Amino acid sequence: MVGCRHLISVSKLSDEELFGLVERSVEFAVRPERYRNSLSGRVVGIYFRNLSTRTRTAFSAAALRLGAGIVSYGPGDLQENTGETVRDTGEVLSRMLDALVVRTAGPDAEYAAYAAQSRMPVINAMSKEEHPTQAIADLATVRLELGGVDGARVVYIGEGNNSAVALALALTRFKATELLVVTPPGYGLPPEVSAAAAECARASGSKFAETRDLRGVKGEADFVYTTRWQTTGTSKADPSWRQVFEPYRVDEELLARFSGAAFMHDLPAHRGEEVSEAVLEGSASIAFDQAENKLHSAAAILEWCLEGN
Ligand code: CP
Repeated sequence: MVGCRHLISVSKLSDEELFGLVERSVEFAVRPERYRNSLSGRVVGIYFRNLSTRTRTAFSAAALRLGAGIVSYGPGDLQENTGETVRDTGEVLSRMLDALVVRTAGPDAEYAAYAAQSRMPVINAMSKEEHPTQAIADLATVRLELGGVDGARVVYIGEGNNSAVALALALTRFKATELLVVTPPGYGLPPEVSAAAAECARASGSKFAETRDLRGVKGEADFVYTTRWQTTGTSKADPSWRQVFEPYRVDEELLARFSGAAFMHDLPAHRGEEVSEAVLEGSASIAFDQAENKLHSAAAILEWCLEGN
């Protein structure tokens, strides 16, 4: 994989790369003229085995806006459906494409199999464990709102899912940030992610904490962030999981515990589940700006992956 810049996990990016991707995303957001033909002549594969509105469109539109061509594959299009291995698929596509954006919702190991070739950068458009491109868009949103990511205070409420994992691994890399992760019992971050985020926070002089107890959750925050309770392509073993999640809905009362906080959501939203209609549509909500920033972060990621490749 020498010479190939894959984006499989935020944790594989250096600080310089992570900070640079966030800044470049912001440049695309505030100066649309940056969308010039920097990827002219390149061909990007867009392979989504799972549903997507934002990520698929963001990478397709970003590639086109940067002058690249795209080849799109849906769930039933490739010979993987007849038994060709992921590794062979990656090897073959690497002979024809310049980059591959892929969502299988499988484990990170599957993405590593696509990346087990030396020609074509592979971008994880959401694995079972992590949604790294979401984190770049989220931090670009924070940066646009506050003027910087350093010092940002975020309260995440909901399942410790792949978006939460990426957020925890990314935000804690910035200086003096504060991340409180509030999850229903049994649905927290994986322990290894908690340990990694705590270590990053120690190194950057930031704070990282987790709790299951909503009662004391209030105070100072710049952002309250939630995600859907049913992450795309997943299901929960406990048939009564909704009862466990019910108190964690971000409604006006819960949001008001953090005076002045903006509301973030990676979308799609399920109004009346993880967020009330009033909060999602309210003046504090920046969820749709956050969605737009997926386009700008996709442009930054594609440029970075293809730079010098
Ligand atoms: N946030 C996000 O990943 O949205 P899509 O599933 O629509 O891509």
